[in-house]
Amino acid sequence: MDLHDYQDVAENYDAYLDVMYREHDSYEGFQDFYLGLAREYGGRGTIDIACGTGAVLLYLAQAGLDVEGTDLSEAMCAVARKKADRMGLHPRIFPGNMTDFRSDRKYSLAIIARSGFMHLLTPEDQRRALLNMRECLTDDGILTLNTFAPHPVFQAQQMQTTPDDYTFRLEYTNRDGYRERIYNAISYDPMTQIMYGNWKFETLDVDGKVIGERIRPLRMRQTYKQEMLYLLELCGWKAVDIFGDYHGSREDTGRYVWVLKKQ
Ligand SMILES: C[S@@+](CC[C@H](N)C(=O)[O-])C[C@H]1O[C@@H](n2cnc3c(N)ncnc32)[C@H](O)[C@@H]1O
Repeated sequence: MDLHDYQDVAENYDAYLDVMYREHDSYEGFQDFYLGLAREYGGRGTIDIACGTGAVLLYLAQAGLDVEGTDLSEAMCAVARKKADRMGLHPRIFPGNMTDFRSDRKYSLAIIARSGFMHLLTPEDQRRALLNMRECLTDDGILTLNTFAPHPVFQAQQMQTTPDDYTFRLEYTNRDGYRERIYNAISYDPMTQIMYGNWKFETLDVDGKVIGERIRPLRMRQTYKQEMLYLLELCGWKAVDIFGDYHGSREDTGRYVWVLKKQ
């Protein structure tokens, strides 16, 4: 089980992300970026892969676009469906692994937003997913996803961190109305390029006393830009654009937003 497979995480995901990205949002502008791509390329349908609780899926559906969503975690799909119902929207949302899911239609745009692709932990799984997404798209289909390259300074810091060496991240109010403090401890293995560690959720009573604790694991793989370019070529993809953020910057920041077409 990974972080997003837990019901308690899925049901609180939007609430804690809202606080987490209030200070510094490395995905700032992502919804409008994807809306622009969907308007340009999504004429024969958009699939939001690793859609989570529907941040992109429901944004596009609300704009009246033809969009569907899929995610490995049934817990995340369930939250996305509930949100869609509350908004009076009815996009199809189905569980699926990006390495092998199939749909009964082909889409002209596939979006993997906010680092969904980084949840693939091996080059083999990345390759399987990139080949699979080719099958899910029309011949002129576009795929967009983002990656982070290993950053020498951050990775060196993480290599000093053990999985229970927690740092406070934020406090938020959970779905039951309780304050929760989130801590995480993230380590890094330079041989596999995997960031791994735990997220700790501490539930507080009104006096601030800790009355519960849950620990949830998370692993994500970083990919060098050159490695990604070779992987894309191997899997029959070609970069149309490589952005450094969601506002069209082409600065090489080590964080890449890829817009890809079939070779
Ligand atoms: C960081 S969340 C991003 C969710 C959403 N795209 C967003 O912007 O809020 C990553 C999501 O990827 C999903 N995921 C992880 N591995 C996956 C896989 N192999 N196939 C499909 N979804 C996957 C997780 O369940 C989780 O919902």
